[in-house]
Amino acid sequence: MSVDATKVIPTPTPLEPGTVQPVTLRPATAADAPALALVGAATFLEAFTWMLPGADIVAHCAEQHSAALYARFLAAPDTRITLATSGADAPVGYAMLAAPDLPTFAVLPTDIELKRIYLFSRFRTAPVVGHPGLRPAQALLNAVIADARALGRTRLLLGTHANNLRAVSFYRRNGFAEAGTRTFQVGAQVCCDLIFAKPI
Ligand SMILES: CC(C)(COP(=O)(O)OP(=O)(O)OC[C@H]1O[C@@H](n2cnc3c(N)ncnc32)[C@H](O)[C@@H]1OP(=O)(O)O)[C@@H](O)C(=O)NCCC(=O)NCCS
Repeated sequence: MSVDATKVIPTPTPLEPGTVQPVTLRPATAADAPALALVGAATFLEAFTWMLPGADIVAHCAEQHSAALYARFLAAPDTRITLATSGADAPVGYAMLAAPDLPTFAVLPTDIELKRIYLFSRFRTAPVVGHPGLRPAQALLNAVIADARALGRTRLLLGTHANNLRAVSFYRRNGFAEAGTRTFQVGAQVCCDLIFAKPI
């Protein structure tokens, strides 16, 4: 069988030990639903092995990180997803802004929810293309805030587990303050989350 030389991927230069490939941010489009499903499930798994039973992580990802669900989110008028990629557009993280779904909270029409912000741990200290000096999580949050303002929203809400200390520190450092609580189902587990809010 002949090989199409134009399709052969050149052998990549090996990474020096300790180096991290740079991260690029870009808006996700409808074509990214499968990439979001993959990075959504994988980063959720990496983030919560310490807290949740495996069966609940698997059930949650099958339900909440399907390509079909991301396609529905991407088609909604208030959804904006920023994808973090590395190498040749391989997804390594993302942040998702969407219409608030916080039934126990007095949501205002000018609110919007940061539903998800996830990065593989290996890429959290990577340089971000076009954003010298910024870490990827900060660059993602800045993109989320810019999108929320462009949608005319004036307050950013989010829910996170109180024991997710790294995320809580990140949100507090970025000016989010505790504003309420909610319950959040992951598989068979019912988690009690804190709701944080930030005027933008
Ligand atoms: C949340 C997330 C995007 C933040 O990105 P990040 O690169 O880790 O953020 P930063 O390193 O800038 O900030 C984390 C802060 O937590 C602190 N921290 C780290 N481990 C901690 C711990 N065990 N207890 C308390 N604080 C901790 C860090 O010191 C840092 O605070 P500081 O810079 O003010 O000192 C990233 O951690 C992530 O993807 N986590 C997994 C997914 C997740 O939990 N998403 C949020 C779900 S709601």
